[in-house]
Amino acid sequence: MTQPLRLGIAGLGTVGRGVIRIVQDHAALIEKRTGRAIEIAAVSARTRDKDRGVSIEAYEWEDDPVALARREDVDIFVELMGGSEGSAKAAVEAAIAHGKDVVTANKAMLALHGQSLAEAAETAGCVIRFEAAVAGGIPVVKALTEGLAGNAVTRVMGVMNGTCNYILTRMEGAGLTYDAVFAEAEALGYLEADPALDVGGIDAAHKLALLTSIAYGTRVDFDAVALEGIERISIADIEQAADMGYRIKLLGVAQRTGRGLEVRMSPCLVPASSPLGQLEGPTNMVVLEGDSVGQIVMRGAGAGEGPTASAVMGDVLDIARGTRVSTFGQPAASLAEPQAATVTTPAAFYLRMELQDKPGALAKTAMALGEAGVSINRMRQYDHVDTTAPVLIVTHKAARADIDDALRRMAQTDVVIGDPVAIRIEEI
Ligand SMILES: NC(=O)c1ccc[n+]([C@@H]2O[C@H](COP(=O)([O-])OP(=O)(O)OC[C@H]3O[C@@H](n4cnc5c(N)ncnc54)[C@H](OP(=O)(O)O)[C@@H]3O)[C@@H](O)[C@H]2O)c1
Repeated sequence: MTQPLRLGIAGLGTVGRGVIRIVQDHAALIEKRTGRAIEIAAVSARTRDKDRGVSIEAYEWEDDPVALARREDVDIFVELMGGSEGSAKAAVEAAIAHGKDVVTANKAMLALHGQSLAEAAETAGCVIRFEAAVAGGIPVVKALTEGLAGNAVTRVMGVMNGTCNYILTRMEGAGLTYDAVFAEAEALGYLEADPALDVGGIDAAHKLALLTSIAYGTRVDFDAVALEGIERISIADIEQAADMGYRIKLLGVAQRTGRGLEVRMSPCLVPASSPLGQLEGPTNMVVLEGDSVGQIVMRGAGAGEGPTASAVMGDVLDIARGTRVSTFGQPAASLAEPQAATVTTPAAFYLRMELQDKPGALAKTAMALGEAGVSINRMRQYDHVDTTAPVLIVTHKAARADIDDALRRMAQTDVVIGDPVAIRIEEI
């Protein structure tokens, strides 16, 4: 008879609890699907006697996750503690050193140490799977590594931080300021302990770095992600972008261009009628484009107990079935050093500025754009407030360097008040 596959679960918080629930509730279904029972041998967390809403009495307990990772009766080490360094990394390294396969939801650890961990795993004949680390319940890692493996990937795009999408759509829906919605999100417990991970785009950039590695066969390089958060987005940007037919999203984009690999996580305008534009609340969406398949859009819950545990268990069942895929879709030693693009692909830009409400102000602004080689596609001026008038400009495609040059020239005029806002418009 086939031996049960035994899990050692480190971390019994939101995700760990969800994994235990699935193992307990779906034991028969899982065994039918894989031909092998999946059992939990032992667990670890910081505090032993905590009510976790699931029974863990039947499982052995380890105070130290590294000791759990080394146990003889553990076949798969399931790391659900979080944190890029410390216990999570030490325990994953220990598991690999002891020949265990690893399933993790830890994007921070993999975005920073994915290459060395993947190399160690392959040397030891182990696999590391991390579906839950990217876009929660959406099986995007599997789609890229397996279903689309016959494609040259042309672009990966995604809204992969539900908290940011909640903040942006709530600002628009309720007409509230960024600060007001940020405070709401904090009160609802939506924000990480360090909010910069969410609103600074870091969490989403970790995920994008992982997808980029799989999509383009490059070593994971978190530092190569050009990163900008949503902290500077104002309600005026949101309302006026909507007026022009756009929505603002914290959008990750990875694409290979003639100038190298372009990887950025930043606020972008997308058409309001596009699937990305219609994405509401904390939901995630990943758009994959391949030369043969065309465009695929995947939408679903990017976080939460059930969706994240679903992704963890998908990986566990793969291992139970004997599916063994390299961490980033090809042997770690064959992953190339990423060649970062020195300039980004030209795009249309949305510019919002306050002009002095006096004759010649628009002409001076248009001249600054023209001198920088940026041409105007659409322009809208709103009713003036006191002595200033808000002006919106959508440019034709321009290089970011030319837009920055135009902004510098505008600052030198005596008609632009404060710093104009420039946001890229992404073609979908
Ligand atoms: N929550 C989500 O929706 C979600 C979505 C995608 C990915 N993830 C990722 O999944 C992982 C877990 O997230 P989570 O939301 O489940 O976190 P969580 O609710 O904060 O739970 C973390 C668990 O790890 C345990 N832990 C922390 N440090 C430990 C240590 N040094 N030794 C032993 N146990 C330790 C904690 O123990 P105590 O309970 O005793 O404190 C807790 O049980 C993270 O990498 C996160 O980024 C989460």
